[in-house]
Amino acid sequence: MKVQICIGSSCHVRGSKQVIETLMKLTKEHEKEVEIELSGSFCMGACSKGVSIRIGEQIYHVKPEDAEDFFHEVILKEAQNAGN
Ligand code: FES
Repeated sequence: MKVQICIGSSCHVRGSKQVIETLMKLTKEHEKEVEIELSGSFCMGACSKGVSIRIGEQIYHVKPEDAEDFFHEVILKEAQNAGN
């Protein structure tokens, strides 16, 4: 499953680097269970509420401190569903 994280300037200021580091670490920890492909993306035109993350057609906004919860509650579940 593809997960794109915005690295545009507005998301960078909101902590995209930290979000990416957290998601990379968690993806590695779960690499045996689910297939998650992280990649960077330019501005998604949705800069207002936190770091933009696109999964399929959906764009989420994630704060660095919420990245771990987001991984477990959204990314992991979506990836498990995609694998079924
Ligand atoms: S900079 Fe990330 S959505 Fe615009």
